[in-house]
Amino acid sequence: MGYSAPDAQSAPTRLFGVEATRRGTFLSFQPPAISEAEIAAVAETLRSGWLTTGPRTAELEARMRDYLEAKHVLAVSSCTAALHLSLVALGVGPGDEVITTSITWPATANVIVHCGATPVFADVREDTLNIDPARVRELVNERTKAIVPVDLYGQPADLDELAALGLPIVEDAAHAVESRYRGRKIGSIADLTCFSLYATKNIAAGEGGLIATNRDDLAEALDDLRVMRRGHGARYDIAVPGYKANLSDVLSSIALVQLDKVEHHAEIRRRHVAIYDEGLAELAGVTPVARDERDVHANHLYVVRVTFADRDDVQRALTDENIGTSIHFLPVHQLSAYRDRLAPNQPALPVTERAGAEVLSLPLSPAHSDDDVRDAVAAFRRVHARLAG
Ligand SMILES: Cc1ncc(COP(=O)(O)O)c(C=O)c1O
Repeated sequence: MGYSAPDAQSAPTRLFGVEATRRGTFLSFQPPAISEAEIAAVAETLRSGWLTTGPRTAELEARMRDYLEAKHVLAVSSCTAALHLSLVALGVGPGDEVITTSITWPATANVIVHCGATPVFADVREDTLNIDPARVRELVNERTKAIVPVDLYGQPADLDELAALGLPIVEDAAHAVESRYRGRKIGSIADLTCFSLYATKNIAAGEGGLIATNRDDLAEALDDLRVMRRGHGARYDIAVPGYKANLSDVLSSIALVQLDKVEHHAEIRRRHVAIYDEGLAELAGVTPVARDERDVHANHLYVVRVTFADRDDVQRALTDENIGTSIHFLPVHQLSAYRDRLAPNQPALPVTERAGAEVLSLPLSPAHSDDDVRDAVAAFRRVHARLAG
């Protein structure tokens, strides 16, 4: 089934920063790249009679096993559910501590709280903003039950150094479906790896999540946890009180079409990242968050650290320029839900807090054209010229 790819290279290259005028229409930050193929797939699924989990979800799991190079893949209702069920499957509960990063979407920490355990936030590396294994090591104690690193923006965390600490790893790979760490596919490395199919993600179904694992025992436990019952008809039984976190075939059918496009979309993302890198390269006080050349980066987000002016002022100025941006992320430990409930052994997080005030995410989506990205660069350069020192 064909689909029309977003226009790529047709327009002539425009010079960065020469246009004095603001973009005429608002450039959304991260619109989904949905075409007639996904619409047709949904219609076909609805006609099939399978509204809930069925053959399309089974097909998605099988194809993702190949794609992620993992023995088992379980489709669930969100990455939040994937992370939660993963911790439950590992037996995380009251009295336990789980070490994670504070530069993440709050769900990463929320699921630790949902288990009755305590999140302990480790500071991040200055360059990639991924969790710093040296800081994690300092926090490990007899209560530590697991580590939850995030592959931030699509850059894999330091998985070898974290694995060397000898604790189970639940990897939050919501941003990292295409990523590789030192040649190995993300999804094939950690005890449990969790992906998101949320509307903005690189494989977007609207909502949904995936758990990849090579461990048979965890796959079996997760299968019980995500549904409500086993068996048929009147003779059903349940092995554990499950969470009803399965994925519907309607959403799986969208994800399957998105999976067909993932390499093509990755190519567009790489091109857009190169346009940003080139267009912002020599601006003082603008630093793209580092990418490790030894790894494959999923380019889920293009994030710069802004120090030439107040980040929020820059964001407002870009909105006035009709350029949508976002912030990934405000540190979780500074949000209301966490401020008053931090672990007694919670260390200071100076790198995290500085980054939280500086990060700014620029528009990145395969639905954008190259000229859209050039517009964002030109607007950013105008804002820089106005607000820098
Ligand atoms: C790093 C990270 N982890 C977890 C999640 C949660 O994903 P979901 O919306 O699929 O539950 C997100 C969502 O944006 C995320 O960015």
